[in-house]
Amino acid sequence: MKYNKAILLAGGQGTRLRPTTNLINKHLLPIYDKPMIFYSLSIIMLSKIRDICIVSDLNTLNILKNFFGSGKWLGLRLSYVEQKKSLGIANGISLAKKFINKSNFCLMLGDGFFYGSDLTNYLKLAQKENKDGKIFSYEVKNPSYFGVIHKKKNSIKIFEKPKKFLGNKIVTGLYFLPSYALDLAKKTKFSNRGEMEITNILNHLLKKNKCKIYHFKRGIKWLDMGTIENLVGATEFIKNVELNNANKIACLEEIAFKNKWLKKIDLKFFRKKYGNTDYFRYLKKL
Ligand code: DAU
Repeated sequence: MKYNKAILLAGGQGTRLRPTTNLINKHLLPIYDKPMIFYSLSIIMLSKIRDICIVSDLNTLNILKNFFGSGKWLGLRLSYVEQKKSLGIANGISLAKKFINKSNFCLMLGDGFFYGSDLTNYLKLAQKENKDGKIFSYEVKNPSYFGVIHKKKNSIKIFEKPKKFLGNKIVTGLYFLPSYALDLAKKTKFSNRGEMEITNILNHLLKKNKCKIYHFKRGIKWLDMGTIENLVGATEFIKNVELNNANKIACLEEIAFKNKWLKKIDLKFFRKKYGNTDYFRYLKKL
């Protein structure tokens, strides 16, 4: 099963990051040396997907358009769709219906951080294995903040932010979905917290035995950067890796270049874009 398109969700209200997000969309906030959205976009690019639709509010879309444009300089084809109100993740999918247009697609939540040596293997598997949907689970200390995977006898169901403890395995913000997930998204009703939840779509696929769950092992680091602790935690983590390691995490130009989407790194162009920063000096070495 191949997924050639991706939706990157970068809307929402970022309520847990107020007052900062009263002024600015969280996906634009710095996580160490790059804006948050670089990290989620890098995961889509590592999945070898170039056709990407970014969903966000109008102000943020204007900022993103100004920076990313058509995406050609990264070997991408970017499109942008406005989400006027934060009505939920399934609503974000519905809004991208023209973009999806009968294709299978990857859905990436813009505040997700993934890192680890085995990560690209998981992404390759997801692009290959013969199941309509794929999700990635992670074991966390505080499962009640997430969609929790609950196994009962032979059936698996996901519960969104359950009050009762149902286990530590949760759903991370990366999904590979069949084209018909769009119809499921459109049919999704509002939950008690007033959102059209992704969980409904996943439970439908799980019930029909059409969804594969990959359990990330210890070697993979995952964080939802939507809280102040995790935003700072991700910054610390990336800082530690990048200070000691010769490689950068989520350098978009590097991924595009290694994917052979760019023939060369246009130093004149990037010097103008980034100035003589550490990021630019890294590009020079590629
Ligand atoms: O982080 C993983 C979790 O993400 C999953 O375990 C949950 O099942 C899933 O519902 C989601 O929960 P969150 O509470 O973390 O979702 P949040 O509201 O933070 O939104 C996730 C991303 O989607 C974030 O980057 C903002 C974006 N978003 C969210 C909403 C509600 C939109 O673009 N539009 C929206 O309407």
